[in-house]
Amino acid sequence: MTDQLTICVAGASGLVGSNVVKAALARGHRVKGTLRDATDTAKTDPLMDLPGARERLTLHSADSSDSASFDAPMAGADVTVIACFPPIYRAEDGTPARELDRQRGYEEIVRPVRDGALNVLGAAQRAGVGAVVLCSSTSSTNPPAALPVKHEALALSDAETQMAEGKFTAAEKIVMETAARDFCTHHDMRLCIMLPTMMLGPVILPQHVDSDSHALPSALLRGEKRHETTPAGSMSVSHVEDVAALFLAAVEDPTARGRYFCVKDSLPWVDLYAEFAKHVPESALPAPLDGTPEEPTRFDFTRRDSLGVTLRDIPTTIAETMDWLKSKPFG
Ligand SMILES: NC(=O)c1ccc[n+]([C@@H]2O[C@H](COP(=O)([O-])OP(=O)(O)OC[C@H]3O[C@@H](n4cnc5c(N)ncnc54)[C@H](OP(=O)(O)O)[C@@H]3O)[C@@H](O)[C@H]2O)c1
Repeated sequence: MTDQLTICVAGASGLVGSNVVKAALARGHRVKGTLRDATDTAKTDPLMDLPGARERLTLHSADSSDSASFDAPMAGADVTVIACFPPIYRAEDGTPARELDRQRGYEEIVRPVRDGALNVLGAAQRAGVGAVVLCSSTSSTNPPAALPVKHEALALSDAETQMAEGKFTAAEKIVMETAARDFCTHHDMRLCIMLPTMMLGPVILPQHVDSDSHALPSALLRGEKRHETTPAGSMSVSHVEDVAALFLAAVEDPTARGRYFCVKDSLPWVDLYAEFAKHVPESALPAPLDGTPEEPTRFDFTRRDSLGVTLRDIPTTIAETMDWLKSKPFG
């Protein structure tokens, strides 16, 4: 057992955040979690029902547009996990991010995430929090010239290139990471940047069954097609509890710093559908791929593995997810 820490989890009601809360409580830590409305019992009840929550979890209302709202949850924390920046897909008036010009895309999609992250980091710094574990995404790991094998140090998206292509929702991540890195360097705070991808596995809050990641297995289980034809490309996957374990390893290891893939691997859709086919009705399955699958993304997992977490393989993750969904956990 490691020493007990106090961890502020910003975004405790999120898919990632709730699993980090669960893992942190299971490891004996105290947790101060945030969501925008800590009186929303639809979100707080499942968190307060986690083992250890009644003794060691407090929940606080905080919004990333208001730095001071994070002062109370950050007070007394040793480490903060920041997982409160879900991707923004639309501008304030509903225009899809991809249809925006450079100025609106930056102001309405990218800047709010950058400024929000600096607001949360500012509260952490004011409270004397020494370490930050920031949740980003593999969407920040696509440099203009594709790499044969992705390594965290080289797989850096270029924000201007992404914005020129209308990819503001992806650009927000690398801009957030750069701002966080500069802030933490300036204030001598340890920073780990975690790079998850599609995450499957059981979820804690019922609303996450319909989240980006779980929409696919949920639809397939209902017999609904998500693809008419099997795509030629590939998809990276990991188990959300393994992702949470990687976050906790980064929290607890005082030597951990820098970027870490939170990915088990990337598999061609042909192989993913072969696994889903073991669990879902035939009506959900796409027509076979006409041709050969593309090479999946390849990763160098040296840094991920340095955190000492063993990740489930993808067939196991898919089987666990489907069995869990079939058990109708939320009625
Ligand atoms: N889910 C995926 O498949 C996936 C894949 C790759 C990367 N990621 C990355 O993982 C991170 C977390 O994603 P997630 O899927 O866990 O997101 P999520 O389930 O949508 O949760 C987001 C969390 O942030 C909070 N939040 C939202 N807006 C906020 C604001 N303005 N101020 C303060 N808190 C706010 C939410 O609280 P409320 O209860 O107040 O809404 C919730 O706790 C993101 O960086 C995302 O890009 C996710």
